Order: sequence, then structure tokens, then C-alpha cells
Amino acid sequence: MSSGSTVVIRPARNVSGSVRLPGDKSISHRYAMLAAIAEGTTVLSNYSNGRDCASTLECIRSLGCSWHRKDDNLLEIHGRGGVLHPPTGPLNCGNSGSTMRMLSGVLAGQNFTSEMIGDASLSRRPMKRVITPLQAMGASITAAEGDRPPLLIKGQRLRSIDYKTPIASAQVKTCILFAGLFADGETRVEEPHRTRDHGELALRAFGAEVKTDRNGVAVRGGQTLRPIEATIPGDISSAAFFLCAAALFPGSQLSLAGLLMNPTRAMLLDTLLRLGLTISVTQLEEHHGELVGTVQVEGHRLQGTSIGGAETAALIDELPVLAAIAPYTERGIEIKDARELRVKESDRIAVVAKNLRAMGAAVEEREDGLGIPGGQTLRGAKVDSHDDHRIAMAFAVAALRAEGETTILNSDAAGVSYPAFFETLESIVVR
Ligand code: S3P
Repeated sequence: MSSGSTVVIRPARNVSGSVRLPGDKSISHRYAMLAAIAEGTTVLSNYSNGRDCASTLECIRSLGCSWHRKDDNLLEIHGRGGVLHPPTGPLNCGNSGSTMRMLSGVLAGQNFTSEMIGDASLSRRPMKRVITPLQAMGASITAAEGDRPPLLIKGQRLRSIDYKTPIASAQVKTCILFAGLFADGETRVEEPHRTRDHGELALRAFGAEVKTDRNGVAVRGGQTLRPIEATIPGDISSAAFFLCAAALFPGSQLSLAGLLMNPTRAMLLDTLLRLGLTISVTQLEEHHGELVGTVQVEGHRLQGTSIGGAETAALIDELPVLAAIAPYTERGIEIKDARELRVKESDRIAVVAKNLRAMGAAVEEREDGLGIPGGQTLRGAKVDSHDDHRIAMAFAVAALRAEGETTILNSDAAGVSYPAFFETLESIVVR
């Protein structure tokens, strides 16, 4: 739904400063869902303040799990010990694919029927990827038009499966592992490329035994979860916009403390190193299995690179902003094996190509990726977020090196993951 909101971004001379990021979206969703089925009270600080993670909180409240905010930063969730309450109406997941896909794993194991709905964008997104494995576990799930939300889930005691996911998706892996908690025996998932492992780390943090082998991960059903006290690390996918903004300016200096450094999420740092950024990571610590650290970067001239295969899967949320800075690199950026980008909050391949062209860039749009030549000069233009948070933020970054002002239409979309994004960007920009 278009909000009519706009933000104007003026070109910058440099980037300098420090930022502390709101809590990681992927971890926030998982901790909230596991807290809802743990026995006792979980206390979370730095829970993501984006709309997506608020959708998860509203859903668990509708499932009988009470929570309250002790202050701006502290959230207490009172777990129901595995047995949720039947909701009185549809569970609204808003724009959040993570909420719908991961929570469906928990609902498949409950002794009641629930319906999950979403906004216009989520209602277009494919759900067969979770429907197939959950049906194999014995749950009854139907979706409108076969594959699209709303989802109607009739939960029950499940049977365990050993499942190979055809697509690399951490949401799907997590959904199956969460369902595995309600299954007889051991449920195992294997994926074509290793994806973010927050589902398995979160399960361990809440006291579940999780086994990992060379290709997969497994969880035994019937385990009781214990509540945790945790500070959620800064979201590295939100930090990506500031890191890429710094990458645009030789001599830039940026410091990000308390940032998630989980190796399955930090691939962007390798990609930016290859492009020419100087990066140092200090104060590395582990919290509930998640690595956290301080990242400092310094900008230099950007080279070019090609991204494909496992690297594409690991960078899936960072590809729009990498594409947005690609024209300013010397040799350009090629993105391959990225068909999944077409079924995100928007068709991110088509939308990135459209917006870059609106700014005067040459772009080759392919079925499963993009070829973006380097050495280009972009001009400010009107570009639309297409109600996709990562598109709104990616083009605010591209605008910093363009000639003239850029207007981001439907800029409000950024609030899905990062409500204060534009203010924070302004705070590190030098004009
Ligand atoms: C996520 C996994 C990714 C990512 C999404 C969050 C997660 O989706 O794009 O923003 O938290 O597991 P897929 O699992 O569909 O690749």
C-alpha cells in the first residue's frame, strides 16, 4: 500500500561518524517466537523496532502470550510453555515473510486452527516452500491459489522428517526446526547452500539440543525451552546501508559498535574488502552463540566484483544496496544466481534496474541477476521504494553520489526494518 511519503536526499561530500544499530531483525523474530513457547519470562533488550518485528509480537499476543515493554529498550515476554492459545481472528503478519513462514512451523504443532494473513506484498509471496515440508510432517495447511497467503493451518502432533530444501532459505529451515519441536523423533533439514544459522543458535540459547552435521541440522521433538535474558546485536543488514555509503567516498570513516558478526551474516564485509574498503573488526564477543563486534571502515576507490552461488545466498538482503553502489565502482558489479530476489518484498531485480535507469545508469537485467557496469555518473531523480524497505534505503545511498537531488517516493517503507534510517543517514553524511 503506497503511503505517499517522500524523502529528498542531497548529494554528499563524505561519510563520517559512528552508529549503533537497532537489534537484528532475524534474531528478534526468532527470540520472540521461542520466548512465546518457553517456560517462564524472557527479557530482551534492543529488540528490533521495525514494523516486521512488531508484527511478530502482535501475532504472539493473539496466541495468548503476554508481553510488555519495561522501557524503550527492554521487552519482557511471558512464555506459555509450548501450548499457545487459539486466536480469536486471523493473525496479521503485515509485510513480514519471516513472521508468516517461521511462525507457521510453531502453529503446525498446536492443537487448533489458525489463519495467517498479510499485506498486499506478502499476499503475493510464495508459501509452498513451507507448506510442502509441514504437510510432510502431518499438518494440514492450505493457501489461497495453492501457494499464496492467507495460510490456513490446522495444527496437530507432528511426525519428524529428514528434508532437503530445494531453495536456500533460512526462513524455511527455521520453520521446519520450530515444527520439529512438536514432532515425534528427530527432524533434520539439509539445504543447497548454508544459510543464516540464527534458528539453530536461538534454539540452543533457549536450551534445546540441536545437532549439526556436515550438511544439515537436526532437532528432537518434545524438548522444553528455558527463557533467556539477552541483548540483541545490531542488525548487520541495516548496517549494510551505512557501510555501502562509506564505501562510496575515499577517506570516509565509519564505526559501528555492538554489530552482529555471525559468519553466516557477515559476508558483506568480505565483499566490501574485495571492492577496496579497509575494514577492521575489534571487541569480538559471543552472546548466546551469536558473535558481536565493533566494525570500523575507511573508504578507498572501489574496484568491481562478481557475486554468485553461495555468496549470493549469504548476501541476499544486501544485494539491492550493492547493486545501488555498483555504477560508482571502477569495474562494475555482476550479480548471478539471485532469482530469489524476484520474490522478496518487491521484485528486487526489476525494481533495482528500473530505479538505476531512472538515475541515468546503464543496467543489464537478467532473469536471475543484474550486470551493472562501473565508471558511471548518476543524476538525481524520482525513484519509488515500491513499498520495499531495502529499496528505499538502497536508493538513499545511491543518491549520495548522484548529481542533484533524489526523491525517494514511499520512503516510509524503511520503517519495516529501520524507522530511524533517514535521520541516522543524515547524521553521518558530510556536505
Ligand atoms: C531471513 C531470511 C531471508 C531474508 C529475510 C530474513 C531470516 O529470507 O531475505 O530478510 O531471518 O531467516 P529467505 O529465507 O527467504 O531467503
